Amino acid sequence: MPKSLTHSQQITKFYTLVEQASCRLANHFTPELPRERVLSWLSQNVPKPRLQHILRVEQTAIALAQHHQLAVDKAAQAGLLHDLAKYFEPERLLAMAKAEGLALTEVDLADPHLLHADVSAIVARDEFAVSDPEILAAVRNHTLGQPGMSQLCCVVFLADSLEPGRGTSPELEDIRQACLDNLYQAVLQVCDRTFAHLINHHRLIHPRMVLTRNWALQLSSDLTTPPPKKLNL
Ligand SMILES: [Fe+2]
Ligand SMILES: [Fe+2]
Repeated sequence: MPKSLTHSQQITKFYTLVEQASCRLANHFTPELPRERVLSWLSQNVPKPRLQHILRVEQTAIALAQHHQLAVDKAAQAGLLHDLAKYFEPERLLAMAKAEGLALTEVDLADPHLLHADVSAIVARDEFAVSDPEILAAVRNHTLGQPGMSQLCCVVFLADSLEPGRGTSPELEDIRQACLDNLYQAVLQVCDRTFAHLINHHRLIHPRMVLTRNWALQLSSDLTTPPPKKLNL
């Protein structure tokens, strides 16, 4: 029977999987959606540091999808497309969300930047003719999640928070370890970490993320892994 990995071995495994995912990145794209075309668009619409983040999210999403035996091509594409609208002005985000008929909450109106995930999915569809509902959902849910979201959505949601450029705090490393064992447990931990940050900075919490957190908690409640460490609020 194989020996289970220690905490630090599991974290090392996370970084190894992400590193290995750098091979043949372009192979996950199609003639209809060439990776180069998306990169060219991004280079005109997002600053360089953000582009580096996007590339690391793509790579991390590939690694997690491979590890959990999910659709790697879809994870790669959603990873590369996830922040298309990151630098759109608040007025543009609101206008596009309204034109799409999205139901806006008071939190969206107070902080339209939160709409960049939904709007990135609109841009993916309209600018790059992406029609795959799983890819579009993974882009749409990368910031706030969504109760009942697919494992592919969980992978992109987690890749956005856990890509290696996000830092190496013990909390983040704990989540990197958790995401290899159970995606839902890791989603729960990301939500809890985000809430702690928002509460500490006296900021609004989006109701959709509360729903995502409750959903992830229920799915992860029968895990054999211990609950995450208590957060300092
Ligand atoms: Fe984002
Ligand atoms: Fe991102």
